[in-house]
Amino acid sequence: MKNFTFCTTRTIVNEKGGVSRAAEFAAGLGCKRALIVTDKGVVAAGHYDKLARCFSGAGFNVCDYRDVGPDPSEKMVYAAADVATGNGVDCVVGIGGGSALDVAKAVSVVAENRIRLDEIFGVERVAGARLPLILIPTTAGTGSEVTYSSVITAADGKKKVVISNKLYADVALLDVELTATMPPFVAATTGVDAIVHAIEAFTSVSKKNPISDMLALEALRLLLGNIEQAAGAGEHEEARSDMLLGAMLAGQAFSNASVASVHGFAYPLGEMFHLSHGFSNSLMISPILRFNASATRHYAEIGRRLFPELSSGSDEAATDFFIQKIDAILAALKLDKKLRDLGVREQDVEELARGAFGQERLNANNPRKIGLEDARAIYREVF
Ligand SMILES: NC(=O)c1ccc[n+]([C@@H]2O[C@H](COP(=O)([O-])OP(=O)(O)OC[C@H]3O[C@@H](n4cnc5c(N)ncnc54)[C@H](O)[C@@H]3O)[C@@H](O)[C@H]2O)c1
Ligand SMILES: [Fe+2]
Repeated sequence: MKNFTFCTTRTIVNEKGGVSRAAEFAAGLGCKRALIVTDKGVVAAGHYDKLARCFSGAGFNVCDYRDVGPDPSEKMVYAAADVATGNGVDCVVGIGGGSALDVAKAVSVVAENRIRLDEIFGVERVAGARLPLILIPTTAGTGSEVTYSSVITAADGKKKVVISNKLYADVALLDVELTATMPPFVAATTGVDAIVHAIEAFTSVSKKNPISDMLALEALRLLLGNIEQAAGAGEHEEARSDMLLGAMLAGQAFSNASVASVHGFAYPLGEMFHLSHGFSNSLMISPILRFNASATRHYAEIGRRLFPELSSGSDEAATDFFIQKIDAILAALKLDKKLRDLGVREQDVEELARGAFGQERLNANNPRKIGLEDARAIYREVF
């Protein structure tokens, strides 16, 4: 028997058109004054207006911070927290991709406790309470709506993470109508991020457990089966709904089991070359899976659980099949790119490798130990 603890968000609502019920959930938490945190893309898509109308129609005082940017910075958190304290809000509502949701999560703690992020970066360092928090994803995606982390770029340009069970929102609200406006590249890359969350949760060295395994496998069934259609042209509401659900399940899985070295190798690409989180993961998934293949039976296990035709073959055959399936999806989504085509120079490999090697928390969770020379070779493979 294995000891484990599993935590997740208390209330998860999956409802088409559900965004227009957000105020009802906030009122249920005893709130009357809401800060909405979002970004310009989500405003342009019309989702912010719909949400703000729902709150003002329900008699709420509403203020907003709509200047969240990609890889959100500390400054954005403080600016949004100032809006929150200046207006005496009693709840925070995040609507957007992982960037907006992560800022909303950080604001719910920073505004309530009047603290600096340096005091809470790291694992379980949030001492005080947070403001009531409702998270509404518009990508499928990071799963941030059900995770215990907020990824913020610190003043030194490094991505840092607040990890705390206090960051589990009060309500995660999934509305398939919101993801219809995602640009195809965002749909494809955020979908691959979700796939990586599920794979890395399932192969996690120390923290995987029967619940995270079950969630990761169901997430992969939904994500692998729908990503191409959901990221392609056309409405495909059923496929987008399955992606939204899959991304959320993957978020629950990795929030308990942790992610590993695909993320560890994606982070330096984001920091140094400002490639999006999902795209950086799309670039690194294949070389890391190949590096890990000889050291884990979990890829074969995923392959067999998802593709019954693999049931009688060897572990090697099932592992190969699974990795080739991932490669085929990347190719179909046109994400099978080389670093040299994205502004990376050969001499950058050393700094990238040192950056990835330094991601100790993530590499410790990887099924195969990674040395500095391995890190150089992994980046060279996709150079
Ligand atoms: N907290 C977590 O658990 C967690 C997990 C993974 C990633 N992250 C973080 O999340 C961030 C990435 O989030 P993301 O990949 O969702 O991207 P994002 O939030 O940065 O959004 C990407 C772009 O897509 C636009 N967009 C989003 N939804 C849209 C929609 N429905 N219609 C039109 N445009 C839309 C946004 O305006 C933005 O320009 C990174 O900072 C990453 O580190 C957090
Ligand atoms: Fe991720």
